[in-house]
Formats: sequence, structure tokens, C-alpha cells
Amino acid sequence: MSIALLYERSETDEMGIKLTAQKLGVDLTFIPFRKIAFSIFNNNFLAKTKGKVFTQIIEDTKVVLNRAQSKNRRLQAGYLFELLGKKTVNSSSIEFICYSKLRTLLHLWKEGIPIPKTVFIPCDSSNILKNGKILHNEIDIADLFQDTLLLDEGIVIKPDSGTHGKGILLSNNREELLFNIRETKPSIINPIGIVAQEYIKKWFFDLRIIVYKEKGKPPICHPVALARAGLKDFRTNTYLGNAVFAAKLPSNIIDLSIKSGKALSKDQEAWLFALDGMINIQENKLVDDYQLKLELEKALTVFESLRKIKTEKYKQSDFSLWNDKLEKSFQDYMVTKPYQKVKNIIDESIEKNKDAIVFHESNSCPEFWEHTRLIAGINVAIPLIKGAKSLI
Ligand SMILES: Nc1ncnc2c1ncn2[C@@H]1O[C@H](COP(=O)(O)OP(=O)(O)O)[C@@H](O)[C@H]1O
Ligand SMILES: [Mg+2]
Repeated sequence: MSIALLYERSETDEMGIKLTAQKLGVDLTFIPFRKIAFSIFNNNFLAKTKGKVFTQIIEDTKVVLNRAQSKNRRLQAGYLFELLGKKTVNSSSIEFICYSKLRTLLHLWKEGIPIPKTVFIPCDSSNILKNGKILHNEIDIADLFQDTLLLDEGIVIKPDSGTHGKGILLSNNREELLFNIRETKPSIINPIGIVAQEYIKKWFFDLRIIVYKEKGKPPICHPVALARAGLKDFRTNTYLGNAVFAAKLPSNIIDLSIKSGKALSKDQEAWLFALDGMINIQENKLVDDYQLKLELEKALTVFESLRKIKTEKYKQSDFSLWNDKLEKSFQDYMVTKPYQKVKNIIDESIEKNKDAIVFHESNSCPEFWEHTRLIAGINVAIPLIKGAKSLI
């Protein structure tokens, strides 16, 4: 009975999981989910790609590490394998919660975990009536948002199931708010309605925090978070070209993160989340923005040089060699003065404002091999594999 790694495309994280499994002496089998036809009929089950039969491999699998990238495919994969009698990390019930920002926030809110004030209106910005006329709801939606959220402080609109900062819009006045509401159209990442949030004045960074649990053991929060930082855009996703720093977590944030993990996992025995959190620093800034910008720009210049390594061609053919080079370059980045200076500002800001933390998202299948592993110092593949093993 074995652990299977289910994936869509074998990318850095999946290659990292394979390499880690080898080092841990754990046998992994592989399920290239997108390529397989799953057939069900009478009492039979068949799984095959165009070139290979997977039925036996799946029968021999006890636990599936679900690394399908698209949220829809991941949810479908989890559900399918659970009905085939497999355990999954994360489970489909967890995937269902994390799929939606609103569902995630509801679970956190219910357990008393601090979140940004959020308003959900299950109505689209406009809809077409039977007689072909378009009904505009923007003004009503904007009014309802403004009943609860202060427009002067900023209102953030986001697709309920989006990722990578896509479609996240900040409005600071009525005109922008109406325009941004109009921009939201029903889509696969935002099936219905509009989610809006108070704008959290997080200064220049937000946090990614790893929490996980193995069966039979208490949940753990990794004490160092990944801070994603930049001043160009209010969205600090690394995908948008922001730099990353290690951030030391105070104990209250560690406790809240564990509580968040429990709130989102319910009765599941093994799980892993990358929680996104922000600190509402407001005007409690340690240095002025101009000074910060200078340091950040210097750090970003060094960080930019890492980008080249990330895309080098031999990554696929000699992952281990590429990985050594990557590790070395991150070590070099982390000892630079600008990195250290910005890191200190982040650490001190967190410590001073630790009670102003809010959690706004949970990622159930996080990217980790490059930033989280090398900057925050946790190879997420280890708790994933150990979590899977604990279920056998
Ligand atoms: N309420 C908010 N206030 C301030 N910034 C926000 C808020 N919500 C999101 N952001 C910024 O936008 C980024 C992306 O938002 P998030 O909700 O994490 O969605 P995604 O799934 O696209 O990562 C966050 O990392 C944060 O920097
Ligand atoms: Mg996020």
C-alpha cells in the first residue's frame, strides 16, 4: 500500500516532493490526473492514459497527495479518490472550504479568528431580464457595501475563488467603486455575486504562514512566515513581482494560526494549509515610506537576479543540480544588507502590531519549493509526506 502523488503537470513543487520522498526513503507512485480516463460501469473501475493502465496502481494506493493545480480539478480529484476508498491530503471537504474565500472566512469568523470585515452580496453587477433588457445593480451593491465598509478607508473587491491577486480591485472613491463593481462578471473564479472587504493598511507586506497536522499528533505552526513585500501595488502576491523575506512570528499569531488550521480542517486527521494574513499596521510605521522604498528597491534588485535561475532550462533534466544552484542563490540573497534591513523592519513591525493580525485566505495546495522552503525555512513536502504516511 503506497502514497501516490496526484498532479496535473510535474512542476518545481512536484519535482521537489519527489526529491524529498527519495531522501526520506518513501516510495511514491505518480498519478498524472489530467491524462487519465476514469471509467465506471457495473461493478468495474478502470483508469488509463493513452499509453498506460493505472487501475492496479490506484488499487494499491492508500493515500493520495492531491496536487492538482486548478481548484476545480483538485476538488474533483479529491472527491473521486475518496469514493474509491483512498485517504487524501488535503481532503475534499477541506478543498471545498478553501476553494472559496467566503467559505474560508465564514469558518474562521465562526471560531472568533480575526478577519478583515467582509461583505458578500449574492447578486451580480448586472443581469439580463427575460425581455432582453439589462438590469443594473451596481448602485444598490455599492450602497450596501458602503453601509458596512468605509469607502474613505478603501474597499477591496475580490473574486471568491481567485488566485495570484487576479481580479482584486481597490476602490477609494465612489466612481472607482462603481467601476470596479461593473468589472466583476460571473466567471469560473467568481460564480456568483461580489465579495468586498475593508482595506487593511498592511503598509508594504503580508504573511504566508504554514500550519499542518499529522494523524495522532497535535497541529504545528512553522514559527517563521514568508513575508511578501513591495510598494508598487497593494496586492503583495509574489506572482506580481514582489520580494520575499523571512518573518518571525510572535506566539499569539502562532496560536491563532493553529486555531485557524483547526477551524478549516474540522475532524480531518492530517492536513496542511498556507494561511494568508495581514497586519493592520495603519500609521504605526517604523520608518518613512521614502526610506523604506530605497531599501526595498535594493533588495528587489538582488531578488531579481534569482528570477533568472528559476527559469533555467536544465531544471527539468537535472532538477537536483538546478536545486543546488537555487539554494545557493537564495543563501546569497538572504545575507545581503538590504535583505537584512527590510527583514528587521518587518520583524519589528510584526512584533509591535502583533494584535492587529487578520487572516484572509487559506491555500490548500500552496507553492513552496522556492520561496517558502528557502526563505521561511520549511520544506512543505516533509509534512505533506509525513501527513500522508500517518494515514496508512
Ligand atoms: N482586505 C484587504 N486589504 C488589503 N490588502 C488586501 C486585502 N485583501 C487582499 N489584499 C492584498 O491582495 C493580495 C491577494 O489577495 P488574496 O485575498 O490573498 O487573494 P489571492 O487568492 O489572489 O492571493 C493579498 O496578498 C494582499 O496583499
Ligand atoms: Mg492570497
